[in-house]
Amino acid sequence: MPKGKLFGLSTELLKKIGWTAEGLHEKSRKLIITNDEARLKFIITKTADVTAYVEYGAADVGIIGKDVIVESGVDVYELLDLGFGKCHLMMAVPKNKKRPRLEDYSHTRVATKFPRIAENFFAGRGMQMEYIKLNGSIELGPIVGLSESIVDIVETGTTLRENNLEEIVSIMDSTARLIANRVSYRLKFERINNLVTDLKTVL
Ligand code: PRP
Repeated sequence: MPKGKLFGLSTELLKKIGWTAEGLHEKSRKLIITNDEARLKFIITKTADVTAYVEYGAADVGIIGKDVIVESGVDVYELLDLGFGKCHLMMAVPKNKKRPRLEDYSHTRVATKFPRIAENFFAGRGMQMEYIKLNGSIELGPIVGLSESIVDIVETGTTLRENNLEEIVSIMDSTARLIANRVSYRLKFERINNLVTDLKTVL
């Protein structure tokens, strides 16, 4: 389970299929919450780490955004698009510093939490960029002169608006996905498959 924005929506969805546990709520500081009766163990991690727990089999299944799956480049099964957590990854610049064409940003610095996706995108357009990896508040980059632009997630657009930034190109759409460890999927096929079927029903 990812902490942060996806946590509430994920627990809400899982609750509908009876996957819940006492103490599984946003305010809890417990990292593992179990429901012995239902044979469930919830592992609560930072959003960007969900893929690591699933890839290495510390967790059999996980819920995480498509953006994080692509950025981490993990080898996991993606079983279901859960539909919530809708957002898109884009490039934005300060409104008053817009350049005429995308290519005009070649060889400039871009601040991002998603350097892999960003590099893929720009390299595909023959653009060489300098990537500055930040872990949050990416929008600050161009405002304080750390970078020319940002590549970041937009959900409602509020953060861009409030910081006078403007999207200049969309890079990818994202929603939350159910992922599974490849070995777990084979060894626990029935249970994981039932989970997918139940989720499909409530979705
Ligand atoms: C994300 C993202 C943007 C913001 C976009 O940040 O990095 O800053 O949400 O949402 P909006 O379009 O609805 O304003 P998050 O809140 O996850 O925190 P962070 O800045 O620490 O990464």
